[in-house]
Amino acid sequence: MSDKRIYLTTPIYYVNARPHIGHAYTTIVCDVVRRYYRLLGYDTYFLTGTDEHGTKVLQAAEREGLTPLQFADRNSQAFRDLWPQLSIVPDDFIRTTEARHKRVVARILQNLYDRGEIYFERYGGPYCVGCERFFTETELAESGGLCPDHQTQPVWIEEQNYFFRMSNYQQWLIDHIRANPDFIRPERYRNEILSFLAEPLRDLCISRPASRLPWGIPLPFDPNYVTYVWFDALVNYVSALDWPDGERFARYWPAAEHYIAKDILKPHAVYWPTMLRAAGIPVYRHLNVHGYWKSGEFKMSKSLGNVTNPLDLATVYGVDALRYFLMREMVFGLDAAFEETAFNERYNSNLADDLGNLLSRLTAMIHKYCGGRVPPAHALEPDDEAVLAQADAVVRSAPQWLDELKFHQLIEETLQAVRALNRYINDRAPWALARQGRRDRVETILHTAARGAVVALQLLEPVMPTKMAEALSWFGLEMNPAGIDLQLLKVGAPVAAGQVLFPKVRLDEEKPAETTGAAKPAVAAAIKNPKSTLQNGKPAMSEITFEEFQKLDLRVARVLEAAPVEGAQKLVRLLIDLGAEQRQIVAGIAQHYAPEQLVGKTIVVVANLAPRKLRGLLSQGMLLAAHDGDALRLVTTDAACAPGSPVS
Ligand code: MSP
Repeated sequence: MSDKRIYLTTPIYYVNARPHIGHAYTTIVCDVVRRYYRLLGYDTYFLTGTDEHGTKVLQAAEREGLTPLQFADRNSQAFRDLWPQLSIVPDDFIRTTEARHKRVVARILQNLYDRGEIYFERYGGPYCVGCERFFTETELAESGGLCPDHQTQPVWIEEQNYFFRMSNYQQWLIDHIRANPDFIRPERYRNEILSFLAEPLRDLCISRPASRLPWGIPLPFDPNYVTYVWFDALVNYVSALDWPDGERFARYWPAAEHYIAKDILKPHAVYWPTMLRAAGIPVYRHLNVHGYWKSGEFKMSKSLGNVTNPLDLATVYGVDALRYFLMREMVFGLDAAFEETAFNERYNSNLADDLGNLLSRLTAMIHKYCGGRVPPAHALEPDDEAVLAQADAVVRSAPQWLDELKFHQLIEETLQAVRALNRYINDRAPWALARQGRRDRVETILHTAARGAVVALQLLEPVMPTKMAEALSWFGLEMNPAGIDLQLLKVGAPVAAGQVLFPKVRLDEEKPAETTGAAKPAVAAAIKNPKSTLQNGKPAMSEITFEEFQKLDLRVARVLEAAPVEGAQKLVRLLIDLGAEQRQIVAGIAQHYAPEQLVGKTIVVVANLAPRKLRGLLSQGMLLAAHDGDALRLVTTDAACAPGSPVS
């Protein structure tokens, strides 16, 4: 990259779904990339936001008895609130319902219309409401006449609409992609677009009659129509920079890097560059396209209902570990499986064992052999130099891996350096040297290992900012904002020992305890509380103090929905009303109650139990029940009681 600026964008997410791992991934990638570039001295700008117009939003709002704006306000806020909880710090959050955005959309449309780039024509075709777009017969032929994403039959719609002369830009786009081989990357997506462009490109329908879709931005030259979703959404990337005269537009637009998943490749690789070209705006620098997070065989998506809430995992493993897993597991460009077992495995082996272990043994030895202060290095031997060279080489290669979107490799090479440091300590055995009284050698080895560890911590800081800052502080250090500093370690600084950065998390069998449905944790909340009060599914009878009892948050809840859990005879899935919120609980009571008996019941739940997974379903609490021989009776209240009422 020539200049030292970078403008990173995520897609603006539809407000008709709650944020899930898929959304979190793209946004975390941008946050991580921006943190790396900032360390490399770049002037960075990072934009995310929400896409709020369209039929789906209108329909979802109607279902909830809200106006579309009320609905969008609430759901946009869910995204905005989530990002800081995942240590994501965007510079701006744009909403397509904001005046600053609508103004720019109208201006671009008017400009194109005035210059004859937009025309009016009757059009008929198969239309998918889910996708909010017309399909071509060829597209549908490939998927047996059904919408490939929604598996529904498109409806035939005929109407007059406005069209953008996209076809005029076909050859220009092909030439641009050919002349700029990494315009769309990785290469597989560039090839996909080039083969799409080998067929004649049609003009783009850019409007919907306001009578059919009242929730959109009106066309400035015809108020009977609103803009088609993409003509509205894509413009966010420049409206957020105050196109055309904004200082930020001049500063950051030439360095635009869009990050998306392959689901929205075509609008970003074809519609958007041709729109920009027609409007006389230079095109973005790179379109960076990643694959899908899948759950089993399928893309994780709201419509398939197989989504994971990022906070569920962050609650158990920590935010930094979630960021680490997402960045390390997915090879950017390819699909990846999202499985808690893989997460657990990586967490325990890479973070708890490799990195965590290096830090804890190193700090412990510095205490034991060097008085708790960073020791000096004396004469370096080739082995010492080699292990440092490995970590330093990662720092040197990092910019290239970043530029090539090889985030997994950057992380893996850093972990290789960490493993090499562990081997180095094992091989050099400073404890044996200490017994031989070779103090200089012990100091040199521990200094070398600490220097290497501190380089690794800095390399991982953009991925795990909180944990890496914490570990650096054990050595009395902070990140140098000017960049990764190979000499950051300070001889003589006091070192903190005895702390655990990543406590191990054990995945228990997903086998429910007899009664409660709060089965043995799939995630090891119990590890944090080794004196678990459940033994073999039965309460242990040891005495507890009043203070211990007070730690339980018992609440009244009402069962809203109940359904069997496929493949699990004992489990039932409940949706409960807890007053301020609704939650899902998976309970082992299916052999005692039919789902329909449960709906409407008032129950008592432990509301502050760490969430856990049963058969892949999240259980956010545990209900109370009494055992009478083989029978089981739910604990309830003896008169009506508001959901959420505390029980003590
Ligand atoms: N609103 C449009 C985008 C307009 S951008 C000008 C949209 N919204 S979306 O809510 O459906 O978000 C799609 C994006 O969310 C993907 O491109 C990707 O960034 C992220 N993901 C959603 N599900 C995903 C996976 N299962 N896997 C990976 N990323 C996913 O499309």
